[in-house]
Amino acid sequence: MCGIVGYIGPRQAQGVLISGLSKLEYRGYDSAGIAVHDGVQIEVKKKAGKLENLSTLLEGQPMSGSLGIGHTRWATHGLPNDTNAHPHATEDGRIVIIHNGIIENYLPLKEGLMSRGHEFKSETDSEVLAHLIEEAYAGNLEEAVRAALAQVRGAYGIVVTHIDHREIVAARTVSPLVMGVGEGEMFLASDVPALLAYTRNMVFLHDGDMVVLNDDGFRVMDLQGNPQERTIEHIEWDAEAAEKGGYDTYMLKEIYEQPQALTNTLIGRLHDETGEVNLDINLDPGSFKRISIIACGTAYYAGLVGEYLIEQLARIPVEVDVASEYRYRDPLVSENTLAIVVSQSGETIDTLEALREAKKFGAKTLGVINAKGSSMTRELDDTLYIHAGPEIGVASTKAYTSMVSAFLMLALWLGRARGTLSAEQGAELLKAARELPRLVEDALSPERVARIKEVAEKYAMARDYLFLGRGVNSPTAYEGALKLKEISYIHAEAYAAGEMKHGPIALIDEKLPVAVIATESRLLEKTISNVQEVRARAGKVILFLSDGDTENARHGDDVIYVPRAHEMVSPVVNAVAMQLLAYFTATALGKDVDKPRNLAKSVTVE
Ligand code: F6R
Repeated sequence: MCGIVGYIGPRQAQGVLISGLSKLEYRGYDSAGIAVHDGVQIEVKKKAGKLENLSTLLEGQPMSGSLGIGHTRWATHGLPNDTNAHPHATEDGRIVIIHNGIIENYLPLKEGLMSRGHEFKSETDSEVLAHLIEEAYAGNLEEAVRAALAQVRGAYGIVVTHIDHREIVAARTVSPLVMGVGEGEMFLASDVPALLAYTRNMVFLHDGDMVVLNDDGFRVMDLQGNPQERTIEHIEWDAEAAEKGGYDTYMLKEIYEQPQALTNTLIGRLHDETGEVNLDINLDPGSFKRISIIACGTAYYAGLVGEYLIEQLARIPVEVDVASEYRYRDPLVSENTLAIVVSQSGETIDTLEALREAKKFGAKTLGVINAKGSSMTRELDDTLYIHAGPEIGVASTKAYTSMVSAFLMLALWLGRARGTLSAEQGAELLKAARELPRLVEDALSPERVARIKEVAEKYAMARDYLFLGRGVNSPTAYEGALKLKEISYIHAEAYAAGEMKHGPIALIDEKLPVAVIATESRLLEKTISNVQEVRARAGKVILFLSDGDTENARHGDDVIYVPRAHEMVSPVVNAVAMQLLAYFTATALGKDVDKPRNLAKSVTVE
């Protein structure tokens, strides 16, 4: 995450930057900093902790100048202290940069720069950008930034100022940037709410855009320098709508944020060249014999996918527990156990208490967690952050798909480390994982969303629903049913498809919609047999098939195609279709999806 603000114009920059950053604190608050150019020098002030720490510092020492850049940080590389806070300047202070994202190849770049005499002040990956720009600079800032970016791999939103230029140069890949166009002034930010107090005329920069802002306006080009046309859009949203990114609800915004959230989960952790996964955790993969995954609700279903992936790829026995049961069932825990707790909030009391229980018996502990600094992270041996960003909608969406992706990486890492996964298999799965943001983007294309909405509305009056899936997608069915229950209040059950004939089949009649996940899998034929069992009893089948599977389409009353994905990563792609089905059912029924009745976002009671 992290938030960026930039300003050039007649106003004092400090006020604009602090006001903008205050609207971006949701993107991270490990530290904040600003740089202001007064025509003679660029002054930098930064402070660890929340923005108010920086504001307090500035009260006593205000900064003067009408060009500036600001940042609020969510730490990835390097501790959240004053030194690692952005902005970062070159040694002579002539170039100052802010970076949001991760530079994946920063280590070799840093080694090269150091061997050429550059001295680094921080532990961040971002600082390499300042030095690369300095090295490439020959009087033209735009060209120097372009030359520097040609050397980096990863995700970035970057803003740059130079002492000799009254301009801001910015660029983005993956990390968002929006430009505000005022009268004789220009603004830049990671998100619209930061700019609404100043202008409603915005330009949303595209992936791979570079932009030069000065007092007269802006120029957009691609990373090779070819000019690009970008239209100025007038934003009508009020402040609340802006916080929802223009979507009707936080839940829908978060559903659409999944390609970005997944990129953040995966980035910097998968290495194509070596086929290795780097999770930056201090866990010895040979130090345990069994794994216990513990979580609640949606996080528990992510854990069930995790069980499947770890057992398949790393051949370690895994059991998954609902946290509220775990501590009361005298679980078999020892020093040979790795307990993995999964939680978006990191605060769920059932999960926290289960973690304490596992620790009491000597288990090693690892968290798959979203919220930084949360209670669980303070008690865990180590945490694999999912970096999905803040989740506000009560029904979990992007945290789930990021948790599943984190488990995929963990399973890959364990499999490679324990020798149960060959380099070729590892490389194939790594490639499939890398594809996920693009596949989910595709799953959210307007045509697919419209189709799911149409089917959801057709069955919105149903009293009950049944969800079926098999193998690694059985938990996708459970999660689909939970999402539907939570926000539409329609009663829904979910089963592993093969289990249906052992009881739930009695429920089937012509009024029961049965959502079946029948995407590409080694069990597809068996799933289709289960579908036939439903149809033979007049149940209405909503069939989720992989793109191109025309052969099986005849088995569904309604068919929804999802992007074709490797079976092991398909739960992520298929979950998006489940979320949309629940969402459009609930909105067709006029329910408040962001605040479903009786639920709370973080459950801190037992
Ligand atoms: C469902 C949902 C809940 C949570 C559960 C655990 O949409 O959000 O089921 O998944 O309460 O919460 P965390 O992950 O914060 O521990």
